[in-house]
Amino acid sequence: MKRSGRLVLVSNRGPYRLSLTRGGVKAERTVGGLVTSLLPLMEKTGGIWIAWGDPAGRYALPVRHPRFELRHLPLTSEEVRLFYLGFSNNALWPLCHYFLGRVRYDRAEWEMYEQVNQRFAQAVLEEAGDEDAIWVHDYHLARVPLFLRRQRPKARILFFWHIPFPAVDVFRTLPWRRPILEGLLACDLLGFHIPEYARNFIETVEELLGARADGETVHYAGRATRVLARPIGIDFAAVDRVARSRRTEQRVQKLRETLGPGALIVGVERLDYTKGIIERLRGVEHLLDHEPEWRGRFSLIQIVTPSRLDVEAYRQKKREIDEIVGRINGRFSDGLWIPIRYLHRAFPSSELVAYYRTADIALVTPLRDGLNLVAKEYVAARIHEDGVLILSEFAGVAYQLPEALITNPYSAEEMAAALKQALQMPKPEQRRRMKAMRDRLRAEDIWWWAAEFLEGFER
Ligand code: F6P
Repeated sequence: MKRSGRLVLVSNRGPYRLSLTRGGVKAERTVGGLVTSLLPLMEKTGGIWIAWGDPAGRYALPVRHPRFELRHLPLTSEEVRLFYLGFSNNALWPLCHYFLGRVRYDRAEWEMYEQVNQRFAQAVLEEAGDEDAIWVHDYHLARVPLFLRRQRPKARILFFWHIPFPAVDVFRTLPWRRPILEGLLACDLLGFHIPEYARNFIETVEELLGARADGETVHYAGRATRVLARPIGIDFAAVDRVARSRRTEQRVQKLRETLGPGALIVGVERLDYTKGIIERLRGVEHLLDHEPEWRGRFSLIQIVTPSRLDVEAYRQKKREIDEIVGRINGRFSDGLWIPIRYLHRAFPSSELVAYYRTADIALVTPLRDGLNLVAKEYVAARIHEDGVLILSEFAGVAYQLPEALITNPYSAEEMAAALKQALQMPKPEQRRRMKAMRDRLRAEDIWWWAAEFLEGFER
């Protein structure tokens, strides 16, 4: 990739949880879409990644074959409470995912958001030279571009917003809508996953700031910002390679033997109310209830990775999931067959690939999702070009993968119908759909995505 300087990447969530050991540093991968895509990118391009984390300092990573530097910025427990759990995850997260009923706006949290964004900007100013491209990521850091711009009017700043950007009438409920929008417009190139989010953003700045849009360029306060929609990719070749490995093959055999002859459905998500896990389970229950002939013929492996458990809404969601899984299994298990196997912990990515390869069907049915990379990883792992992907119409990735079965997760009836269609889909139809999805995701991978932004930006 052609760049004149280094890449300085900035995000709240970093790629690793680090702990100091006697022999050096132990690094454990973190979860979430952002890290899944950006880690392979940084491993290839090198540069410096600035992110929240302990202990403070600079680390050469990955530990065995260092390719980039990670600068950890520790946050105090008060900063975590007000900035991360508070304004980021109790205001911006539910707001942008259209969960207005869950939104809480609090001035102290907003003020801490400002302060922590200033700290991130300060760290960038310490690291970035004039020739470097500074790439800020996600809703936690919307003010960073403006803080940078004030200090360095000529800095080259990109921003990518990883979650949905809602319609103007939703966004306008935010009391600090103006500073958030002005923060974003201080960058040169602003990315969203899909055209709908870019359109929403442009409409919002036109209406709320009086900005002027000319195609994909927004003019505001004497500056121009280009707004681009490109769905983030995964390292398709790497997932495909792991899926073909001998180790995965052996693991798939083992899983098949253990799980028995019925169809296997897989669901993998962070524990989050946006992911629609309860609604999906209701869809499964609906099918078992109304069409008893399906009992005993499939099972769902539901993997839920713990996330943000310091936010009450997330703890509450965990209790609800425990309860509904217990109810469905209690109602329908027959001693030998269990409809839902529920695993509440994080799995290494190679183990997830084994599940994707084993599963005849993947259920990716969020109530709202910026994009969703589980869907992409499932497709990349289907090396025999079969299998069925069921997608929510409210996941950004549905825009990129129209060959999936698209469903409305709010309707248990529609979910049950999609499941039934998937369970009965003939192999040739599975192949036709899966091949089209694989071809697209192989072409629109993480390198394509990064080039669209970094090279487009150089021009
Ligand atoms: O990929 C979407 C995303 O919201 C990221 O922005 C975030 O880092 C990730 O999910 C996981 O959430 P968290 O960082 O709060 O653990």
